[in-house]
Amino acid sequence: MATTVRVDLRREFADAGSRADPGPVYARLRDLGPVLRSKDILGGGFLLPRYEEVSRVIKDPRFASDRRNVGLRSLDQWWTPGLLRLLISSMVLKDPPEHRRLRNLVQKAFTPARVEKLAGRVEEITDELLDAAAANPVIDLMGDLALPLPLTVIAEMLGVPPADRVRFRTLFAAIQDNSEMTPASIVRNYPRMRRLTGFLQELVRLRREQPGDDLVSALVHAEEAGDRLDEDELISMVFLLLFAGHETTVNLIGNGVLELVRRPDQLQMLRDDPDLIGTAIEEMLRFTNPVGFVAPRFATEDVEIAGVPIPRGSMVTLLIASANLDEAAFPDADTLDITRSPNRHVSFGLGTHFCLGAPLARLEARIAIPALLRRFGHLELAVPADQLPWRRHIALRGVEHLPLVVTPAG
Ligand code: HEM
Repeated sequence: MATTVRVDLRREFADAGSRADPGPVYARLRDLGPVLRSKDILGGGFLLPRYEEVSRVIKDPRFASDRRNVGLRSLDQWWTPGLLRLLISSMVLKDPPEHRRLRNLVQKAFTPARVEKLAGRVEEITDELLDAAAANPVIDLMGDLALPLPLTVIAEMLGVPPADRVRFRTLFAAIQDNSEMTPASIVRNYPRMRRLTGFLQELVRLRREQPGDDLVSALVHAEEAGDRLDEDELISMVFLLLFAGHETTVNLIGNGVLELVRRPDQLQMLRDDPDLIGTAIEEMLRFTNPVGFVAPRFATEDVEIAGVPIPRGSMVTLLIASANLDEAAFPDADTLDITRSPNRHVSFGLGTHFCLGAPLARLEARIAIPALLRRFGHLELAVPADQLPWRRHIALRGVEHLPLVVTPAG
C-alpha cells in the first residue's frame, strides 16, 4: 500500500518568500507523492498536488462539495467564521440538484455572449481609472486599476448604487485578511462581518423596493421552476458573486502585470503583437495562480486515488495552483510563455463548479492589460521585486500594492 506524507500547508506558505514564489514549494509537494496527508487545512484530510489527480477528482461525482452529503455536520455553528458562514448557503458548497437550482438563477448573466456586451462599459471604466492614474510618475497598479475595475464592474452588475461603492469597498477590504480562522481572529472579525452582511441586506431591501436592470433585482424576483431563493441564499449568492468576482480578478490583473514587467521580452512580444492577448491571459491564469486550491471535496464512498485508500467522508483539498505548474502536464511549466497553446490550466476549476465568472474575468483582463500597455510606453517596478507586499491569504495569491514607474506613451 502506498504511504502518504503529512504536510502542513499553512506552514509551507508561512514565509514571505514562498508566497512570492510558490513554485518550489509546490514542486516539492508534487515530488512527495500524488496523495499527501494534510495537517491542518480546516481539519486534515488529504492533499492532491499533481495535475492528473486534481483534474480527475474535481470532475468525479463520487466527491461532494457539501459535507452534509457524506454525513458530516454542517459547518454552520455559532463559532463559524463569518466569511465561511456567508459561503455555506452558496452554490460553491452545494451538490446537484441544489447546486443546479442556485446556479441556474445566475447563469444567464454570465454567458460569454451576455458578458461580451459589457465590453464597452469595461473599456470606459478602465479609461477613467487610467486617466486618473496617469498624472503620476509612479502608479499603484492595484489601487489604481486592478482593484477598482472588477469591483466597479461587479458592483454595477449587482446594482450597488454608485454612492455606496466606497463604503462597500471599505467594508469589503476590512474582511480581506479574515483567513486565519483562529478563535481570536473569528471574534475580532465578527463585527466587520456583521457590517458587511448588513450592507448586503440593505442592498437586497433597496432592490426589492426599487428594482432595476441588475442582478440583485433579478434574483429578488427570480422564479426558476417555481423556486425562490430564501433570504440566506440570496445574501449568500450576492456575497459569493462579489467575493468570487472581485478578489480573484484583482489578482489575475495584478499578478499578470507583475510577471510581464519582470520579463521585458514577454512584455515586448505582447506590445509587438497585441493579438497574443488571448493566450497571454490563459498563461497568466496558469502561471500566476490567483487561486491556490478549490473548496474542499468529500468522498461519498470509499475510493482509491493513485492507489491510496480514501475512506468515505474524507476531506480532499485539490491544489489547482500546484497542478498548473506540473511538468507532467505543461512542458517548461515554470516558464511564463504568453504564446503557450494548448493550455489546459485548471485555474477556473473543472466540471460542475467550473467558474461561473470565467468569461467576465477573461474580458476584464483582456481589456485592462492592453489598455495599460497602450497608455504607458514604459513600465517598470518602482521597488525591488523581493520587497513587494504579498498578501497573507492562504488560498488567494496577490500583492497588496504594485508600485510601477510609468512613462506615458508618446
Ligand atoms: C467558482 C476561480 C473570477 C464567480 C470558481 C472556481 C474557481 C474559480 C477555481 C471553482 C471552485 C470549486 O470548484 O470549488 C476564479 C478565478 C477568477 C474568477 C481564478 C479570476 C481570475 C470570477 C468572477 C466571478 C466568479 C469574475 C463572478 C462575477 C464564481 C462562482 C463560482 C466560481 C459563482 C462558483 C461556481 C459553482 O459553484 O458552480 N472560480 N474565478 N469567479 N466562480 Fe470564479
